[in-house]
Order: sequence, then structure tokens, then C-alpha cells
Amino acid sequence: MPTERIRSLGVLTSGGDAQGMNAAVRAAVRTALNRGIQVYAIYEGYQGMVDGGELIRKLSWADVGGIVHRGGTIIGTARSADFRTSEGRLRAARNLVEREIDSLVVIGGDGSLTGANTFRHEWPKLLEQLVQQGSIAPKLADRHRTLHVAGLVGSIDNDMFGTDMTIGADTALHRITAAIDAISSTAASHQRSFVVEVMGRHCGYLAVMAALATSAEWVLIPENPPEVDDWEEMMCRRLRAGREAGRRDTIVVVAEGAQDRHGRPISSEYVKRVLEERTGDDTRVTILGHVQRGGSPSAFDRNLSTILGYAAVEHLLGAEDSSEPQVFGIRGNRITRTPLLHCVEQTHAVADAIAARNYEQAMDLRGRNFREAYRTHRTLARALPHASTGQECYRLAVMHCGTLAPGMNTAVRAAVRLGLDKGHQMFGVRNGFRGFIAGDIQPMDWFSVNGWVSRGGAELGTNRDLPSQEHFARIAQEIDAHALDGLLIIGGWSAYQAAYRLIRQRDAFPALKLPIVCLPASINNDLPGSELSIGADTALNNIVEAVDKIKQSAVAHRRVYVVEVMGRQSGYLALMSAMATGGERVYLPEEGITLHDLMTDVATLRRGFEQGKQLGLYIRNDSANPVYTTGFIAALFEHEGGSLFDVGQAILGHLQQGGNPTPFDRIQATRLAAACIDWLVEAAGRATGDAAFVGMQEGEIRFNQLENLPDMVEQTARRPRVQWWLDLRPIAKLMSQQDPLQS
Ligand code: F6P
Repeated sequence: MPTERIRSLGVLTSGGDAQGMNAAVRAAVRTALNRGIQVYAIYEGYQGMVDGGELIRKLSWADVGGIVHRGGTIIGTARSADFRTSEGRLRAARNLVEREIDSLVVIGGDGSLTGANTFRHEWPKLLEQLVQQGSIAPKLADRHRTLHVAGLVGSIDNDMFGTDMTIGADTALHRITAAIDAISSTAASHQRSFVVEVMGRHCGYLAVMAALATSAEWVLIPENPPEVDDWEEMMCRRLRAGREAGRRDTIVVVAEGAQDRHGRPISSEYVKRVLEERTGDDTRVTILGHVQRGGSPSAFDRNLSTILGYAAVEHLLGAEDSSEPQVFGIRGNRITRTPLLHCVEQTHAVADAIAARNYEQAMDLRGRNFREAYRTHRTLARALPHASTGQECYRLAVMHCGTLAPGMNTAVRAAVRLGLDKGHQMFGVRNGFRGFIAGDIQPMDWFSVNGWVSRGGAELGTNRDLPSQEHFARIAQEIDAHALDGLLIIGGWSAYQAAYRLIRQRDAFPALKLPIVCLPASINNDLPGSELSIGADTALNNIVEAVDKIKQSAVAHRRVYVVEVMGRQSGYLALMSAMATGGERVYLPEEGITLHDLMTDVATLRRGFEQGKQLGLYIRNDSANPVYTTGFIAALFEHEGGSLFDVGQAILGHLQQGGNPTPFDRIQATRLAAACIDWLVEAAGRATGDAAFVGMQEGEIRFNQLENLPDMVEQTARRPRVQWWLDLRPIAKLMSQQDPLQS
């Protein structure tokens, strides 16, 4: 039912475009239509609001169909000079109120949201002025005394307070890491140096995270200029050391806003000159430019935008007259809402701190994760570890157990290098517990993990073998033989089971009392204590890319596709890929499939195609039901669809596990591995035989005691008791079902 307060809502995208804006527009439009509210698109950002006419048009459910995968914004964007004038804002107010629009979803960056805030506060005065001029009736002004604003941060820069991630930043990182991966292979072939300039305006987020996610050796950002005046020499010394240690490529990432301690800009051309003059290296510059803002959004950006677009409209529907504009963002995987004014102030505080050369404060304002990522990169990119400071040295082993997950190599590399850097000895166990039992345990040095940050697969080897009764004595012997002080197991469900089995044998085999920690790596995202496991983001993106192509082929043929995705007993990949691709029905293992469901689905499909539908996309998790398989469902639909539609099936299989890890998986793998090494070292010092598993929860790294594992999982169903993403089901459903009021 239409709500009393809102009659019409406007949506606009403003400022620099960002991948994911379309998904946000679609989500806002469909959420509003679903509640019986008219939605107007305001084309070309604030300029359209000022100019009005055809630039403010109603959107239907179908108008926003088939756009989630598209880059840019279908409703256009601009940086409007007119809206910065009070005359322009008066015209904008008139254009809105004449259409009874008094609620806005503004998708844009810092400048666009600041503009929205100003407009919101001027609104009553603007309406008064319009009444005085006789441009609008007093009654109309009375009905719309307040302008309600919900802001979504659309900007690749990730520079705004109020959200962990802005819309577009993840996709921009995809573009940058793909470019640096490609550059590093040509650089290594020629033993060349490359300076890669990335966007970000005054924010170093893209530069730092791209450096962390690739093999870049040096990074220059606005928030933390090099500490010394002769930073050029310091940088070149480090790069020379890398070459001497055997590196064939050198990559320096320069944020476009980089500057030195005195506030003088550092350009990529300048860095090239320095490298050529001081290292004699053949050096090239690559300025990535607008490639970073283009192309199809990543799975994360599509889903982030969808969830935030939904949340923004839901909020506007319930907003009071006194409500202040809010920014919608995420913290971990939770939606957050923060007063817009506060977000703008805090965002400007960083720029002010940089301008005042107060770099400590600028780094503090960017947050703990940013500082930590910067520090971790500096260590990982070293030519060799720091010299030992004489602290206690432990012998720590790293291994995998479970099915392959992209990002496993990244985690091993981070663990090995960070362990070595702290003065410990690091060992790699090959081929999971099979290798452990066979004594295949080798020391690992700094260079043994060179290039692993971006490499898919698992160089150490992995399998699902679990240790059983006859193996524990052998494992204990190997621990003693190598004098191991701690064990990091990077893997999935089997890794957790194996670790739990080991701790249950500690009384019988005291060697097993060494600290053990599990790091979640599984494309299924089915591990307890972690909202996202390493590999799941890569698998999701693999699925989304494949489904985008399948959809294109299906629409040409009036076809329904039944796509089967992995996930075992967790429907995470199925639900999130459906949300990211516009899948209208998703079969989850958590819900199962009944005959009645299938009959309803057939009826829905027939009705849809009779009314002109062109495409059907059904996504089935591989374990959703043992009888109603993908083949069965496809055959059933084919038969029941008759001449209305064709049916195709696609079982995506192992392409989901393949490929190089996404930037998100690389960054998470690195962060979690760093935390695990710290944890192991502390636990080894305590010598109390702690055992735990690590994970990201609500944006924080947390450890859970391994002995609590049984309480946190449904053992027979093989999944965590709590799965946060199940709450997203209504949003996914709303986005894909035809608006009942329009059908
Ligand atoms: O804010 C997004 C952004 O891409 C910045 O990273 C960059 O500095 C700027 O926009 C480029 O602006 P334009 O597209 O107007 O050249």
C-alpha cells in the first residue's frame, strides 16, 4: 500500500560515476514501486534537477531491468555548476515539488552528498520563496514542508566516512589489480620498473589496497608521505635490494594525490625520472585513468548497492519530518546509517589534516584497517625480512586442508613473510595431512613465496584427507621431529574438523599440545566464526561473470536457464549470485525444494512468458535437493513450458574454484594470516596449547576457541548455526519479482 507521507520519490546519481550505481538505482526504484510509491529518475544528476522537463521522468519496474551488470549509470551523472548557485537550487526545488517529490535518494560522492545536505536545509526557505513568487500554491508547499534525503556513497575513491566501502571501490580495485598483475609479468620479462598511477583524489585507499593485493614494492599516498626528505634515496635503496635478492620486476604505485612531507605533489613522471637516474632501470609509466571507473561492477558492488538502495528507501518511508539526512553504508556486513552532516565533516577532516600536513591525524581518521594495511604492505614488500632483534624464535608450520579456495597462496605468503620478519622459522607442510603423515615438511624462506600473492590454486597442495586414529602418533612424531611450536591450517570444513580431531587427542599425544589456529578458506562460505571465508568472493565473481554471459544468450532465445552453483550445504553462493545477476528464483539447501515449489515455479514461468517475458534465470545450489536435481528441474520446465519457452541448464562446476583471487580475497587472506601469526606467537609464548579459528565478524578480526566448534555448527548439515546472509533473502526476492501493483 502507498504510505501516507511519501507520494513520489526521486533518485539521482551525481558526481563521478561508479560501478554499482545502476544496481543502487534499480534497488531504490523497485523497493519504492513495491510499496506503491512513484519513482522519478532525475537524469544527469543535479543538472537534471535544475533543468527539469524531460530530465525528471517516472521509472517503471521494467525500466530498471537488465541493468545490474552495466557499468556507469543509466540515468546519467554530471558535476553541476548551476546547482551550486541559489538560483539553480530554487529551480530545482520547484521542479521537485511540482511533481510532489519530497524524498530523494542521492547516489554520489562527498561533493554530491554535501550538496544534498545544503539543499535539504534550504528547502523550507526555497518553498517559501516559490510561494511568494506565485510559482507554487501554498497548499503544495504545506504538503512538502521537509525534504527527506538518504545518501548512498557512490565513488571509487572509498574516501567517505560512514561506510567501510563506497559503491565502486571494489570494482576499481578489480581493475587496478588486474592491470598490475598484467604489468608485473611484462615487467619481470624485461626486468623493468613500472610506475603505476591510480585514482583516488585525496585518498590513498585504492593505492594502498592495490599494493597490498599485488606484488607492488612501494606505494606513495597523500595521507602518509615518506618520512624523510630524501625519500627518493630510501625508495631506490629498497628497490635495489629487491633486485639483488632476485626480483625481476619493480612496481611503484602512486596515488594521484600523493605528496611529500612539505605538501609538494609527487607525480608519476617524477618517480620515473628518479628511478631511471638513481637505479638505472628501464622505467615505464602507466596511468590507469578512467579504466578504473569503467566496466561491469563486481559482485560485491552489485550486492552492496542493492542492499543499500533497499535500505535507503525503507528508511525514507518511515522518516519523520524532523529526520536529518542520513548516509547508508556498511560495517562488516551490516547496514549502517549515519547523519550525513557528520559524515561530511569527518570526511573533510581528513582533507584538512592532509592540507595542514598533520599526517598522523590523517592516518588516524582513515581508520585502523587502513593504517594496518599500509604497515603490512611495507613488510610484505621488503626485499628481505628485518634483522632479528634477538626475541624468542618459534618454529611455525603452515598447511592446507580441504578443497581448493582462491587466496590460499596469498594467505601462505603473508604468514610465511610476516613470521620470518618477526624472527621465526617458517615451515610448509605439503599436501595436507597426507604430507604431514609422510613428513613432507620443508623450511620456507622469503623468496619461496615470491609471486604467490596473486596466484590462484594452492602451491602447497591441498586435499580433504582427515587424520584418523592410526595417524595421530605419526603426526605427533613429525611435530617433535621438526620441533614445531605452532600450526596454521588454512582451509575449509575439513581443516576445522581435522584441527578439532587433533586437540581431542592431546592427552594421548602431548606433542599435539602445540597451538593450532584455522584460517577460513572455502568458496562455500560455510565456516563458523567468519562472515566471509577466503575464496568465496572469487567464486562469486566467477559465477557472476558466467551468468552474465548465459543471460545474454538466453534473452536472445526466450529461454529459461537453470544454473547450478557450488556451495555444498551453504546457499551463500547461490543467493548472492542470484542477487548480483537478477536471478528470479534461488534454490537453497537451507530451504530445500518441494514438489509444490516446483509446481508454483512452473506456473509463474508460464504466466510470465505469456505476458511477454524474455528470460528466466533460476539458480540452484548443488545440494539443494538430492532428487530435484538441476537436470530434473530443467527437464520439468522444458516439458511444462511447451512452446512458450526453451530451457537450458548450466552446471558451472570447477570454474568457480579457479582463477586468481579477487582483491578482496587477497586483502582478507593477508589480514587474517597476519592476525594468525600474531596469535600463534603469543600462544606459543604462553605454552598453554591454545587452539582457535579466526574470522571476520562485524568488520573485526575475532578468534573463537576450537573447543567451541561443535556448538557453532550444525554437524549433520555441515554449516554454521548462524548465517548472516540468510537475512538478505527478502531483498533478493523483492528485486527479482515483478511488482505486484504493476503486473
Ligand atoms: O572521485 C572519483 C574520481 O574518479 C577520482 O578518483 C578522480 O580524481 C576524479 O574522479 C576524476 O574526475 P573526472 O572524471 O571528472 O576527470
